[in-house]
Amino acid sequence: MKIAIIGAGVAGVVTLKYALERGHECECFEETGEFGGTWVYTDKTGVDENGMKIYRTMYKDLITNLPKEVMFFLDFPYPEHIKESIITQPQVLQYLTDYVNKFDLEKHIKYHQTVVKVRPHNDDKWTVTTENVINKTQNSKIYESVFVCNGHFRYPKLPNIDSRNLFNGLQMHSSDYRNQNLYKNKRVLVIGASYSGIDVANHIKSVTKKLCLSHWSPTNVKIESVVNKPAVSKMYPQGAVFADGTVEEFDIVIYCTGYEYKFPFLDDSCGITVNDNWVKPLYKHVINIERPTMYFIGIPFLVAAFQCCDIQARFSLAALEKKFVLPQKQHMLKDLNDYEFELKKNNVPNRHTHKIGQRIVSYFAELAEIAAIRPIPNVYAKLYSYVISQFGNQSKNYVILNDEHFIVC
Ligand SMILES: Cc1cc2nc3c(=O)[nH]c(=O)nc-3n(C[C@H](O)[C@H](O)[C@H](O)COP(=O)(O)OP(=O)(O)OC[C@H]3O[C@@H](n4cnc5c(N)ncnc54)[C@H](O)[C@@H]3O)c2cc1C
Ligand SMILES: *[C@@H]1O[C@H](CO)[C@@H](O)[C@H](O)[C@H]1NC(C)=O
Ligand SMILES: *[C@@H]1O[C@H](CO)[C@@H](O)[C@H](O)[C@H]1NC(C)=O
Repeated sequence: MKIAIIGAGVAGVVTLKYALERGHECECFEETGEFGGTWVYTDKTGVDENGMKIYRTMYKDLITNLPKEVMFFLDFPYPEHIKESIITQPQVLQYLTDYVNKFDLEKHIKYHQTVVKVRPHNDDKWTVTTENVINKTQNSKIYESVFVCNGHFRYPKLPNIDSRNLFNGLQMHSSDYRNQNLYKNKRVLVIGASYSGIDVANHIKSVTKKLCLSHWSPTNVKIESVVNKPAVSKMYPQGAVFADGTVEEFDIVIYCTGYEYKFPFLDDSCGITVNDNWVKPLYKHVINIERPTMYFIGIPFLVAAFQCCDIQARFSLAALEKKFVLPQKQHMLKDLNDYEFELKKNNVPNRHTHKIGQRIVSYFAELAEIAAIRPIPNVYAKLYSYVISQFGNQSKNYVILNDEHFIVC
């Protein structure tokens, strides 16, 4: 079948690999000049030489927050000589490069092509319009299936702090954080204490004059030489007032407040909406229930992304090829309703609908079972669960013993 893949990050390349292997005719559109998405580093922020906004979020000297044992594709292990579990951004990009080369994927990647519109064509096909970012020429073609792999660390989410624009210093989102230079001898406030907040604070703590970390809920996060603060209640020209009444002056505020799911290229008639960071209606976070020849790869967060994309790509292809019978529309909607009911019962907010976390073992197993595809061995999901339960304390080495067990060394 003719398949359009939008994006050549982790999700796009693994989809491309499996789709080609099954004999499909694929075009993978990538708006930048490189594959790898998140894993490509650049010093630049703002716009690039073609006038395109730069969406890179990687920073210098990043080390992975997960062990490599949960960052690979099922049929492509890391080279033997890499013994350590925690690796660096260049090593991950090299892994992706080796993968692309080994399976000869690059000739199917159309660089500098941004997908600007996707519309249904007849009942189950799609018209995909791309724009060449260099000369702005547009081109439309018809495909039997569309895989949306555009990534979700792309559109910054900023908190609702009234009076934010009263602040005279520099305000920025973590997506524009690159390296320590800007922060030398500065008084810095980092807002948000999830992965990116803690990472950024750790990166700059040795160069700042003062560093505060503000977060909504009390946490057990303790970073040496960083002052913990509650939420910001308001900003004023020289700094911030916190919920406990304390006042601090700052030169720079960095918002580490996450990202929003957005699909600016999907026409309304595709049937997809996003409400408080909940993309719907999707069956098992993957299949567009309204038009089930459209698949979303890589929507879940707080998950082992490589393995999640791996199994989601194979799940989707099995559905497209009718290797298993997809439930009827009303049954998929009911499944989604039941899931929503379950989340509500546990007071999970909408914006956490796609958060997998400790449900990873059952989520991976469920996809494998429904589609009767090769499962991701349980040991990887179990290792992932273990690592996130040790958050902040994870620079260890892990050895996979078999499909069920690992050891920590
Ligand atoms: C700072 C940071 C650190 C991280 N650390 C880890 C880690 O240690 N371990 C881990 O497993 N995960 C980590 N992640 C998560 C990481 O995002 C995933 O591992 C994975 O890279 C996600 O891949 P993706 O393909 O879904 O998205 P992306 O990597 O964002 O790729 C999407 C691609 O689509 C392209 N694109 C978007 N829109 C269009 C369009 N309209 N037309 C054409 N092309 C388009 C983009 O240019 C991009 O190349 C980290 C993320 C960040 C931001
Ligand atoms: C734009 O560039 C593409 C690819 O290089 C080329 O095929 C096309 O003819 C160009 N269009 C115009 C109007 O220059
Ligand atoms: C961190 O790891 C050490 C050594 O494995 C362990 O003793 C300690 O309890 C861990 N701390 C947390 C917060 O999990």
